[in-house]
Amino acid sequence: MGKTYKIAVVNGDGIGNEIVPAGVSVLQAAATKYNFEIETENFFWGAGHYLKHGIFMPEDGIDTIKKFDAIYFGAVGLPEVDDTLPAKDYTFKVRTDLEQYVNYRPVKLFAGLESPLRDKTSKDIDFVIIRENNEGEFVQNGKIMYPDTPNGLAVDTSIVTRKGVERIAHFAFKLARKRNKKVTNVTKSNTLIYSLGFWDKVMAEVAEQYPDVEYGKMYVDNASASFVLKPEVFDVIVTTNMIGDILSDLGGAIMGSLGLGGSGNINPEKDYPSMFEPIHGSAPDIAGQNVANPIGQIWSAAIMLEHLGEEEAAQNIMQAIEHTTAKGIMTRDLKGTATTTEIAESVVSFIES
Ligand code: NAI
Ligand code: MG
Repeated sequence: MGKTYKIAVVNGDGIGNEIVPAGVSVLQAAATKYNFEIETENFFWGAGHYLKHGIFMPEDGIDTIKKFDAIYFGAVGLPEVDDTLPAKDYTFKVRTDLEQYVNYRPVKLFAGLESPLRDKTSKDIDFVIIRENNEGEFVQNGKIMYPDTPNGLAVDTSIVTRKGVERIAHFAFKLARKRNKKVTNVTKSNTLIYSLGFWDKVMAEVAEQYPDVEYGKMYVDNASASFVLKPEVFDVIVTTNMIGDILSDLGGAIMGSLGLGGSGNINPEKDYPSMFEPIHGSAPDIAGQNVANPIGQIWSAAIMLEHLGEEEAAQNIMQAIEHTTAKGIMTRDLKGTATTTEIAESVVSFIES
């Protein structure tokens, strides 16, 4: 018998309750085939938990999930709950408390899918966004004063540290060495001249340590246009927390749907468990109908297995996804008629075959 991996499963809210179980069924099929064990424990945290208990997860929630090998997560947030809370009280909390400073977000056009970019094929759309995940614009370092008066004032201050830039830079350059040896640093340092000027300076210092990797800088306005006009110029993109958040939805869009994007919030040193989740949110507009696309969630399972060292199983899941899309088995977001469970069944039956 192979290893046993203890996985904390957090469906979260909305479509999380449909796509996470779909992803777990794929994980179990891969475990059986590749002779390892996935032991799951479910945690019913999120906005639904908040409605019942006034808190997104119990006080000792982080200590509880710290003991697992990885966290498999859907998304949190419900229309009836204050939307400033999900990130602050769950997603960012896990990402920072567990030092998951890399947000790994691949963008790839699968077989059988047409990109909304008319002339682009799978040769052109194949790159990775490495989003800094612990600092930058999203540290929630700010204040609102006198909001209901003429003196109303609000401030958010982003934070960029040498350590933070160095570690995300090294991750990006090492990844590029395993891919096409090209790193594009996407910033806006011509206008955010202090924080992102410093980011660029440290990034360039690290780049010098990887002379075999081509290094370039692009501003985010140009990068957005380039995602649409010439995505083939990208291999590894390294960028800040907010820019990475925005660009990864655009990445999802050029793949054909937000529902396709998988990701990992990774602590590369493995001092803490990493968390794997799709790039999108809880999609309350389509929840409960069995129509959500589970592929981003399933891709996240493959990224998780790769991180845990089960590379063959991870590759097999990716083949199963492409086999499914190539056969035209697609959910409504891709103009298909298949349900969430039918996609999962197709992926599972490929793995079992
Ligand atoms: P969203 O990503 O949930 O949805 C945006 C659009 O994409 C919607 O039309 C939705 O139906 C569609 N979509 C998303 N995933 C899909 C899938 N798998 N299959 C088919 N269609 C899909 O973003 P939105 O609407 O801005 O946010 C909804 C809630 O999710 C909010 O409460 C927000 O705070 C939360 N959220 C949570 C995240 C997390 O937990 N990591 C990340 C982003 C948003
Ligand atoms: Mg996002």
